[in-house]
Amino acid sequence: EHPVYHAVTANTWVLSRYDDVESALLDHGSYSSKRGVFPTPPGSDLADAFMPMMIMMDPPRHNQLRALVSKAFTPRRIAGLNEGVSSLAAELIGLLDEGAGSADFVRDFAGPLPAMVIADLLGVPREDRVQFREWSSALVESNPTRGEMGAGLAAAASVYAYFADFLAARRRAPREDLISALVGADIDGRHLTDEELLGFCLLLLVAGHETTTNLLGNAAVVLAEHPDSRHRMTRDRTLIGSAVEELLRYDSPVQGLSRNLTHEITLHDTTMARGESVLLLFGSANRDDRAFSDPDVFDIDRRPTHQVAFGKGAHFCLGAALARMEGRIAITALLDRLPNWTVDLDSAARLRSGPIRGYSALPIS
Ligand code: HEM
Repeated sequence: EHPVYHAVTANTWVLSRYDDVESALLDHGSYSSKRGVFPTPPGSDLADAFMPMMIMMDPPRHNQLRALVSKAFTPRRIAGLNEGVSSLAAELIGLLDEGAGSADFVRDFAGPLPAMVIADLLGVPREDRVQFREWSSALVESNPTRGEMGAGLAAAASVYAYFADFLAARRRAPREDLISALVGADIDGRHLTDEELLGFCLLLLVAGHETTTNLLGNAAVVLAEHPDSRHRMTRDRTLIGSAVEELLRYDSPVQGLSRNLTHEITLHDTTMARGESVLLLFGSANRDDRAFSDPDVFDIDRRPTHQVAFGKGAHFCLGAALARMEGRIAITALLDRLPNWTVDLDSAARLRSGPIRGYSALPIS
């Protein structure tokens, strides 16, 4: 009813319809990422607080950085993780099953799995995942809208210090990991600078971690609530891929991210001024009945090819293939080991975060 809504307390415009969210994502000339992707008070610039990260850039600078990073973050490298992620998932779910009665799906599975996958990808010790989780939680739970970035900035500084040592070591002695590939990547003699490398490590940690954790947590809840779909998937594993796609649409882990206007825009008879924040609600777009029939129904046969859980356009999620793979593998592991799992929603806790939707605690048996 209010397709262009002004959220006064957060000081941002909010777009909620599919067509409007999609158009904004594709129009980076008007809807800029330069000042960050969270609603920020006018005049403040989140990008200034961090090392350069491509998620906070517009083309052409963004294209250059993304092209360089893509030289290392290749589909082949991601596909190569498949076997390792599968055995890791089977191991974690086995431990979780043995701890039945006191098992927590987020603590014991959905949190550690993506953290270890990123550690493997980057080539840093898996044991450091506990630290990764603390840092990324501090970052997603800090609130730039209220100027509460202190814990987030402190975590970012720790991440830079941690990865600076690895960058130096890989420069001296490259290995087969992503950090070495990033250090070596070049386009026409242009390499990533140390600042860009550190910014990218932080981005991977935040963008690839909590997002996937919450995809998995939401999946455990939604599938437990839809036993018929779960039963069909147990018998026909080819349905798992389309179920992941529908989960992304139905319970989007990233509910929305922001842009800032480069000029005045009038939409649905409402005028938004240059410089103002505009929050694009992916979660709402994915439930818009103009774009999806019966949007509130979870339907694993839907195959929603146009859902926007990974964004769209220039900033389309770099890790989408990895996230989808982790989703398929996690569901496979659950169906193999705990086919009739139940979750205790009365004892579950919601994550306290603006953009991310999911659970911070989820008892499972
Ligand atoms: C960008 C969602 C997993 C790395 C994005 C964007 C979204 C998103 C919505 C677009 C940002 C924008 O338009 O401003 C998700 C979801 C995930 C997930 C829902 C899991 C279910 C991952 C993983 C990685 C990753 C596993 C890497 C390991 C990135 C990066 C960007 C990004 C680097 C920035 C791309 C750019 O600015 O060009 N993600 N993501 N994401 N994602 Fe993901």
